[in-house]
Amino acid sequence: MKSNLKPLTQRAAWKALTAHHKQVQKLHLRQLFADDAKRGQKFSVEAAGLFLDYSKNRITDKTSSLLLQLADESGLRAKIDAMFAGEKINITENRAVLHVALRAPKNATILVDGKNVVPEVHAVLDKMAAFSDRVRSGAWKGFTGKRIKNIVNIGIGGSDLGPVMAYEALKHYSQRDLVFRFVSNVDGIDFVEATHDLKPAETLFIISSKTFTTLETMTNAQSARDWLLAGLGGNVKAVAKHFVAVSTNGEKVSAFGIDTANMFGFWDWVGGRYSMDSAIGLSTMLAVGPENFRKLLAGFHALDEHFRTAPFAKNLPVLLALLTVWNTEFFGAETAAVLPYENYLKRFPAYLQQLTMESNGKHVTLDGKHVDYQTGPIYWGEPGTNGQHSFYQLIHQGTRLIPCDFIAFAKALTPLGRHHDILLANVFAQAEALAFGKTAAEVKAEGVPAALVPHKVFEGNRPSNVILAEKLTPEILGTLIALYEHNVFVQGAIWNIDSFDQWGVELGKVLAQRIVPELESKEAPKLKHDNSTNQLIKRYRKMKGL
Ligand code: F6P
Repeated sequence: MKSNLKPLTQRAAWKALTAHHKQVQKLHLRQLFADDAKRGQKFSVEAAGLFLDYSKNRITDKTSSLLLQLADESGLRAKIDAMFAGEKINITENRAVLHVALRAPKNATILVDGKNVVPEVHAVLDKMAAFSDRVRSGAWKGFTGKRIKNIVNIGIGGSDLGPVMAYEALKHYSQRDLVFRFVSNVDGIDFVEATHDLKPAETLFIISSKTFTTLETMTNAQSARDWLLAGLGGNVKAVAKHFVAVSTNGEKVSAFGIDTANMFGFWDWVGGRYSMDSAIGLSTMLAVGPENFRKLLAGFHALDEHFRTAPFAKNLPVLLALLTVWNTEFFGAETAAVLPYENYLKRFPAYLQQLTMESNGKHVTLDGKHVDYQTGPIYWGEPGTNGQHSFYQLIHQGTRLIPCDFIAFAKALTPLGRHHDILLANVFAQAEALAFGKTAAEVKAEGVPAALVPHKVFEGNRPSNVILAEKLTPEILGTLIALYEHNVFVQGAIWNIDSFDQWGVELGKVLAQRIVPELESKEAPKLKHDNSTNQLIKRYRKMKGL
């Protein structure tokens, strides 16, 4: 697993950026804007229906050119080409990384091990579409002959977060007489609350799991099966009418009792957190219909093409990623806030948390060496304007630097009085306040008593991006998600890490499997953990009466 790249901190551009940062770190955005009347236009770029204004970052022309040089010295072009060519760039799992094939047009050719995967992708999409049409029209009947009114997706991580986010994001376009629920947590309450008001005869479960072995999903799937059979008189034939599976693992699907005719497949070259536009998006297609789902894919593809072909200086995901590297490595930003001013995107930050942190939360390079720099920042966020009345205080006046991505749309999907202008005024105001702040002189000039002045000063100089699109359509949602997918890819390319594995989730899973029987056994188990874990297990057993 050797790469020919110089270690990041030894690349010429990195060294130049380190020196350059010393010179510009004190520069204030007030000054940078005063010095260049066209700064806003200079540091803005538009593609695939997204307008990105990144001028409120602490950068100069030189920063921009050094960051672009860093991209070149990091072998970014070759890495992008390798991903699109189906090379096995997920080296620790020896897998290709081809979510871009999921949205490739029918006539495209993308080879994995010499085989064009695009026809298979479209065959699954067609199967999903036929199924969705039957459920949406009422042609697909439950075991007792009733039409399906409720759809419950059971999955976790990438088999949940994308589907929930997309359902919420595209609710405006959804078939409103269908009820959608999402069960992910192994905490039984998640299942109980999701199903308490549903009738088994009218309910369809989608068991979504790439591996079909995930403990949470299998536990919930079993409870769903029990719930259904209990409600329908125990006839196991009912399962075929009320359960479908989305998975790469046909054997396990059959073993669970789901007919593989009711299985929608995908492939090992689709990472869990990059799978919402595969069959994992079945719930999305059921909600918004095949046509809207295809529009979503078209949006993804438009951004894929932009990413693949646009020069780095005009390439949205490349620019966003380089700014994250700049803010993280040189300004010490530990987190990045994503703040959608669009209530339909309320689950977008949660979705991004897996996409970004499971991808780039790594501490070794592709060569297995411990990094001597920071990697993926902590992503978090809430929709605006709610966050303004909660944590924005810290972003404006706290001691930490928190770069923000503001996401906004020019048109409301359902206009309501003055709401949308007020909403948009708030996005623009927040970015302005963060950048320019309010000086002590300005505060004093307002007649504020001297003792209060320091409390009312806004230092400003806090970086943000504004991403503006016309309207939240299925296409634009796809474009926006692809923007972050490729942003994550570029960050990982610069840091020279494997953005597509997730070994960090394994240890906890293994330990939990070992502890389960120790909690359930009637006999007191011989505990061999550390003193603290032993104590907790014993106390739990005692509390539950064992
Ligand atoms: O949390 C680890 C993980 O493997 C994720 O990467 C994945 O999205 C999730 O578990 C669910 O996995 P599966 O779809 O195989 O059930």
